[in-house]
Amino acid sequence: MLIHSASQLLTISGGPQRGRDLGQLGIIEDGAVLIRDEKIAEVGKTADLRAAHPNEPMLDAYGSVVMPGFVDPHTHVIWGGDRAKEFEMRLEGAKYLDILAAGGGIISTVRATRTASIETLIAQTRSRLFRMFAHGSTTVEAKTGYGLQTATELRLLKALLALEDESRLDLAFTFLGAHAIAPEFKDNPQGYVELVCDTMLPILHQWWEVHAPGRALPFVDVFCETKAFDLAQSRQILTQAKQMGFPLKIHADEFDNLGGASLAVELGAASADHLVKTSDADIEALGRSETVAVSLPCTPFGLAELEYTPAQKILDANGILALATDCNPGTAWNESMQFVIALACRAMKLTPAQAIAASTINSAYAIRMADKVGSIEPGKQADLLVLAVPDYRHLGYRFGTNLVKQVIKKGRVYSVDVGYYRTA
Ligand code: NIG
Ligand code: FE
Repeated sequence: MLIHSASQLLTISGGPQRGRDLGQLGIIEDGAVLIRDEKIAEVGKTADLRAAHPNEPMLDAYGSVVMPGFVDPHTHVIWGGDRAKEFEMRLEGAKYLDILAAGGGIISTVRATRTASIETLIAQTRSRLFRMFAHGSTTVEAKTGYGLQTATELRLLKALLALEDESRLDLAFTFLGAHAIAPEFKDNPQGYVELVCDTMLPILHQWWEVHAPGRALPFVDVFCETKAFDLAQSRQILTQAKQMGFPLKIHADEFDNLGGASLAVELGAASADHLVKTSDADIEALGRSETVAVSLPCTPFGLAELEYTPAQKILDANGILALATDCNPGTAWNESMQFVIALACRAMKLTPAQAIAASTINSAYAIRMADKVGSIEPGKQADLLVLAVPDYRHLGYRFGTNLVKQVIKKGRVYSVDVGYYRTA
């Protein structure tokens, strides 16, 4: 298939973009892409590609931006129940970490998740993944973390593997058994840390070989935060995971600075995520590393807080900045990377071009998939979007509606319409 006549084809070629190099979109005006099987075969000007491939099935993208599918590298997309009531409580003055310490917050979602059947979890998560896809995300990272006991955590992974099989999306998997201290260990947090290290991780390792044979091991992530896991506990869990061969991620500096970002750099984690209260020393460490700084602007927005990731400092320090939704029931129930981009432009003063690169090639690198997705280059998977706008700056400029017209996943075209999509 030949997609042609794009007003702007955003190739975003050349790999992850560090520091002030962020925002190189590699634009080809009147651009075209040749797709063979599930991959991108050629990229260039419409006139050249049409002349070379006159008999190819054509998809006319006249008046449209064509770009890589979004990669959302941080979501908690699988959970039971909702937290609408806590949203209201917070508006009335309650604080997120206090609600958590009182057995609500993450723990209330844990209760709802533990009691939900796998069918219910799959059905509810399916509709969230569907909305992500319809809003242009073609690869999504998905964390466990609302089980906090071995069997439920594995049930969540099993559901996610089934959802990837039936959905059009590619998923990257993350084990977040260390999302909060399990309620059974309220008075013995270190006991829960030992359970994660000595029981959960070894069982996960064996389970994965049986249930996801041949696949790379999932990431292991820790919520390094006051009232969750302190720096020493985070180090213990991540070091153990690393020794077992798991790739690493961390939730750091969402509410308090505990040094989690520097720990991520020290251990060679793929990413450090949130990064609101991050210190200058942490930022400097990130800037000298391959650990991607993943900013989640929906989280302060969702919590009605005014402080966001110091993105400009991260760019000045030569860091690799990426964006994600953080889709979760507590702080940020949002499935749209387009909204994340609009927010990042306003709250962190990213340009649309920077926010787009942070949501494609750099976010692919945050889940170590930048060799396969995140740009339009020959050999890469044919995951593309056709937008209903002629200029890429409409991403960021506009917000709250869906600008995606067609999602092309592994070379198959899906038309997006209000409320449904179908195979073209
Ligand atoms: O990324 N910070 C920890 N995890 C989520 C929130 C989870 C929840 O509140 O349910 C986050 O913001
Ligand atoms: Fe998160």
